[in-house]
Amino acid sequence: MSEPALVALRGASFAYEDGPPVLRGLDFEIREGRALALLGRNGSGKTTLMRLLSGGLRPHEGRLTVQGQPVTYDRKGLTRLRTTVQLVVQDPDDQLFAASVEQDVSFGPLNLGLPDSEVRARVAEALAALDITALADRPTHLLSYGQRKRTAIAGAVAMRPRVLILDEPTAGLDPEGQERLLVTLDGLRESGTTVVMATHDVDLALRWADDAALLTPSGVRTGPAPVALARTDLLREAGLRLPWGAATADLLRAQGLLAESVPGPRTPDELVALVAGPLGASGG
Ligand SMILES: Nc1ncnc2c1ncn2[C@@H]1O[C@H](COP(=O)(O)OP(=O)(O)OP(=O)(O)O)[C@@H](O)[C@H]1O
Ligand SMILES: [Mg+2]
Repeated sequence: MSEPALVALRGASFAYEDGPPVLRGLDFEIREGRALALLGRNGSGKTTLMRLLSGGLRPHEGRLTVQGQPVTYDRKGLTRLRTTVQLVVQDPDDQLFAASVEQDVSFGPLNLGLPDSEVRARVAEALAALDITALADRPTHLLSYGQRKRTAIAGAVAMRPRVLILDEPTAGLDPEGQERLLVTLDGLRESGTTVVMATHDVDLALRWADDAALLTPSGVRTGPAPVALARTDLLREAGLRLPWGAATADLLRAQGLLAESVPGPRTPDELVALVAGPLGASGG
């Protein structure tokens, strides 16, 4: 059986002032422990959806629930939501504002009114998780882009949310920076955080996510990543291409080299393993 939704939007509609509807009657669920990738073309509403899920925007129709309980948009309700769901925005410069890395990362826990010792422990833990302990005293405005991104994520991690939502976390990172971030996210997942990310990178989504949600003009389609990201029709509707792993699997199947029942590769290593093995062709 599937896990109950930790955070859910039901029948949610939203439009910016004077703008056309961005989301209409949307149902969306974050299930505990399932790494979720949110994909869609520029302007499809990924950022808007993430802001609705984290309480920064309020749906005009429909509602947001946490473990089945409707979120209230008063101070108390929003504080409760923020201890459950944390959003890391696309541009770290929209998130960072304190003078030093440590001050920035402490801001959220201090605002919760936690004792100093608890704040210090959380900040130390978040800096270590993002591998930026050595940057603690650095002025945020002197950091590189990748360092600012890690600092912004550390600020969210210090809140110890159950759900961490990241808007395009790998955009602007170099290949090694992307790999380091994925290792960090794996660590957070292992320690029980549910991670959701928006990305345009279908290859990354296939490799990283358990589930993929595709934002299309006719609504959001969610499924297991290897299934959703092999649907050329949905991908085209969402303005995306087939991940290389799915494209490779199609080619191998067309040549009779891969059985329908054998999943395609998600990484180059998996392709090597497939090619080194009997290519699963005997099964089909
Ligand atoms: N603050 C705003 N005021 C008015 N319209 C907005 C605002 N933010 C976004 N929009 C509009 O809402 C729609 C959805 O934008 P959103 O930023 O959610 O898309 P996105 O999927 O995150 O795009 P991208 O891939 O470029 O980040 C777009 O048409 C955009 O122009
Ligand atoms: Mg966006």
